Amino acid sequence: MAPHLAVFDSGVGGLSIVQSLDRQLGNYQLSYLFDNALFPYGELGESTLVARVLNLVVPFCQTQRPDLLVIACNTASTVVLKPLRQMLSIPVVGVVPAIKPACEISQSKIIGLLATPATIGRSYTKQLIERFSNHCTVLKIGSTELVEIAEQKLSAQTPDLEHLRSIVSAWLKAKVQPDVVVLGCTHFPLLRNELGAIFGKNTRLVDSGQAVAKRVATLLDIKQAAHQQNCLRVGYYTKKNAHTNSLWASFNALGFNELNLLLENDLCVRSPDGLLVSDAETLVH
Ligand code: DGL
Repeated sequence: MAPHLAVFDSGVGGLSIVQSLDRQLGNYQLSYLFDNALFPYGELGESTLVARVLNLVVPFCQTQRPDLLVIACNTASTVVLKPLRQMLSIPVVGVVPAIKPACEISQSKIIGLLATPATIGRSYTKQLIERFSNHCTVLKIGSTELVEIAEQKLSAQTPDLEHLRSIVSAWLKAKVQPDVVVLGCTHFPLLRNELGAIFGKNTRLVDSGQAVAKRVATLLDIKQAAHQQNCLRVGYYTKKNAHTNSLWASFNALGFNELNLLLENDLCVRSPDGLLVSDAETLVH
């Protein structure tokens, strides 16, 4: 039987991880949960974020019963992996900025880390840099605007390149530009073409998608991608609004069958923070 994966993010960023999983795994059942009620996670305090993710994701997994959970969010992974692993019996795979591979391939020894403001400030990220930067200088930009632009792109709004350029202008103006840029937020690979056009062909953009997918394949003992059957893909969000309606085409393009509001009643264990909304609606069947 095809494995069942749960993938979690604050928004559509986790879909960049789904794209990597698709390349690596082929066929699998997918339950994708995004917590748009508290989006953007990059602006949340650490204790609020940890409590929220545990209160939401643990009952979600207990109800959906996936074989494996991917926290497809750097901002959350830098703080929730340990408590989540203590609370769940399934494997939990997280995503953290690809500092190590970036430093390994950098020629100029100047790399850029593009992430959310929270990820930039995390002690986990600082430790990653101390441990793996290996004589590289790591320039950092924390941007929530970039996360929002990626959300808008998936709701069919063309990103404004001048706006994107202004977000990374400090690096564009620098005497020596980073030759490798780490996309340290899962939303940013969704803007790979636009960022690639802005930085130019001498800058490589690296993300953690392939490494996450390989780790998932190893844990599930999948040797090669299988494509024989169609498995159910259901998306769940925590707040219904105009944006969630406008995302359906992007989810559909990735093979999703449904995009639903997650209800308290959908969870066999109630979410203690009571943040889930209560009016049911399935967008598309
Ligand atoms: N996609 C997320 C990440 O990888 C979070 C973006 C946000 O909600 O701020 O960090």
